[in-house]
Amino acid sequence: MARFPASLVLVGAGKMGGAMLEGWLAGGLDPRHISVIDPKPADHLKALATRHGFALNPSDVPTSAEVVVLAIKPQMLDEAAPHFQQVIGPNTLVVSVLAGKTVADLSSRLPQGQTPRAIVRAMPNLPASVGRGVTGCYAATGVSSDQCAMTTTLLSCIGGVEWVAEESLIDAVTSVSGSGPAYVFYLVECLAKAGEAQGLPADVAARLARMTITGAGELLHQSELSPATLRENVTSPGGTTAAALEVLMADDGMRPLMVKAVDAARKRGVALSG
Ligand SMILES: NC(=O)c1ccc[n+]([C@@H]2O[C@H](COP(=O)([O-])OP(=O)(O)OC[C@H]3O[C@@H](n4cnc5c(N)ncnc54)[C@H](OP(=O)(O)O)[C@@H]3O)[C@@H](O)[C@H]2O)c1
Repeated sequence: MARFPASLVLVGAGKMGGAMLEGWLAGGLDPRHISVIDPKPADHLKALATRHGFALNPSDVPTSAEVVVLAIKPQMLDEAAPHFQQVIGPNTLVVSVLAGKTVADLSSRLPQGQTPRAIVRAMPNLPASVGRGVTGCYAATGVSSDQCAMTTTLLSCIGGVEWVAEESLIDAVTSVSGSGPAYVFYLVECLAKAGEAQGLPADVAARLARMTITGAGELLHQSELSPATLRENVTSPGGTTAAALEVLMADDGMRPLMVKAVDAARKRGVALSG
């Protein structure tokens, strides 16, 4: 049965680590089971620790936590490794959200002695900060089904969770959902500019575009219908929406552009982790 870990150490409580921490607290993980390591904690993190009672930079960190979540910047991995190695025991599950750091990269920074190591690579996205993210995960060979279920429980606190069967697919996840929120923000910008081009004042066009995307997103979130059905439901034959979609859905329209953009993101991810 899915459960929270009996002891969890979070290493790095910045934007993503902080979003996960708040999600766990809201989701019911007992704060007494959480320790956070972050050498220069921000004021709001200190306030959160005081309010909830989790351990912040304790002198007596668990020596063999059930789960260690790594949420430092990828370039900080070597510097941080000596600090988190002491909390990793032979049976610890390590969940890493570090972009571009492979299971092999992570294994080489963990205490040796148990092969294979239980490592999950997870790629969340920015809406995690409002509890509406989605995380793509890959479990390395040493991860048990109980540890996968526990990871799902933890990451469900910040949104949806999807598992992929091959590590290389994490780069594809990054290019779709990791970077995806930026594509949507840019769509808002493009829609606003298109409104301006039709004569709308810039501020009105910006509000119309912004609320259209958030409203459509909420509708999609609440509906069980597919995006294609939702689109068809607002497209009358020969109408205004159909005229615009004819442009967007042309052979050289939005789909090939999105395929190209996502492929560029994936290739960049591969290059950065190489
Ligand atoms: N933000 C996102 O949308 C997103 C999405 C997917 C994945 N990620 C991944 O999440 C990770 C964190 O990204 P972020 O945006 O949350 O970065 P961030 O805001 O800079 O958070 C990193 C945190 O780690 C702390 N830190 C630095 N050195 C440390 C050490 N030795 N031990 C423990 N903590 C240490 C930093 O403290 P200081 O500020 O004092 O240096 C900071 O609080 C990255 O690996 C990134 O690839 C982020």
